[in-house]
Amino acid sequence: MKVFLFLPIFVIGIGLVERGPRLQDKNPRRVDSAKVSYIASIAPLLVKNCQPCHYPGGKVFKKLPFENYLVVKKLGLKLNTRFKTEEQQSLVKRWVEAGAPKE
Ligand code: HEC
Repeated sequence: MKVFLFLPIFVIGIGLVERGPRLQDKNPRRVDSAKVSYIASIAPLLVKNCQPCHYPGGKVFKKLPFENYLVVKKLGLKLNTRFKTEEQQSLVKRWVEAGAPKE
């Protein structure tokens, strides 16, 4: 009887041990091939770096709201005139090259 209780716990335990190292994998090639999207990659970058101006209450929110996917998509590589680091610029570039997907 007891084996029916312990078996699932054992299986879940193995699953967690299996996933552990993979979650910590920092191999840059994996990051490179990871999916880029507006929601997952670009929006957080904009929120972090481009507040307050392009957000509600900011001076260019009316003209260029970065909450609006289509506005950001239309700017495309122009975003890189304002991003400073190579890491940010290459992320934007990869996103544009992937067709600027929303999700
Ligand atoms: C201090 C306020 C401020 C911040 C912060 C800011 N912007 Fe802007 N941004 C402006 C203003 C004002 C304009 C419109 C006038 C201009 O082009 O400079 C503008 C315009 C732009 C344009 C349009 C350029 C064009 O030629 O059409 C882009 C692209 C842009 N911003 C990107 C960004 C990005 C990306 C960030 C964050 C890394 C950012 N901005 C942060 C104020 C800001």
